[in-house]
Amino acid sequence: MPIKAVVFDAYGTLFDVSAAARELALESENKQFKNCWIKLATDWRLKQLQYTWLRAIMKDHKDFWSVTEDGLDWAMEQNGLSFDSELRDQLLRLYWNLSPYPEVKKMLQDLKEDGFLTAILSNGSPQMLGAAVESAGISAVLDAVLSVEDVGVFKPDPLVYELIEKRFGCKRLEVLFVSSNGWDVSAGAGFGFKTVWVNRSGEPVDRLSARPLKILETLVSIPKLASSSELASF
Ligand code: LAC
Repeated sequence: MPIKAVVFDAYGTLFDVSAAARELALESENKQFKNCWIKLATDWRLKQLQYTWLRAIMKDHKDFWSVTEDGLDWAMEQNGLSFDSELRDQLLRLYWNLSPYPEVKKMLQDLKEDGFLTAILSNGSPQMLGAAVESAGISAVLDAVLSVEDVGVFKPDPLVYELIEKRFGCKRLEVLFVSSNGWDVSAGAGFGFKTVWVNRSGEPVDRLSARPLKILETLVSIPKLASSSELASF
């Protein structure tokens, strides 16, 4: 079945969260932050994601912005940085003004020229996603920006992946779902999408039930892949 829609995760997939933190570390006068920014950023991302999974299981939803703040507060305390409220504000502000990975804009333009529907499907709140899409200058090449806030539960709850079917009225096998999160890709594949895992840092495949159809290092070849007879044959 040929692909009709190509749908992307946001943070870490289209938007480069770690580059923003790295730039801040270069400019910062806080020596401790300069030394531990990689650990801080890793702890922050891990806690942010853990809180989304836990809140989904506990049926205790609050939006991704609050979860992002909670994750950062935990990570700053863990790394002895709780005293630096200015650093906290700067790190949180990054989320509203993220750069896309360098290949993103052209890749989305090519998909639109080839006639595909394009979308973001993200844990992010509509406000956060709107700001990131605007600052990256990619709103004209996206047909939809879908937020979990429409269903009030985080990924990988299947209700989230259903948002794509509902929005585009297409079959699951007509969707190519692209994420840099191994667990997100596995959930999308289990749901019935064709999937690509963008594995920029060479991590092992997650030991979950469904595996990605394709593993790529960047997003560059997504338009070619979406049009390929190989994907259409599934
Ligand atoms: C998102 C997170 C999981 O954008 O990266 O949904």
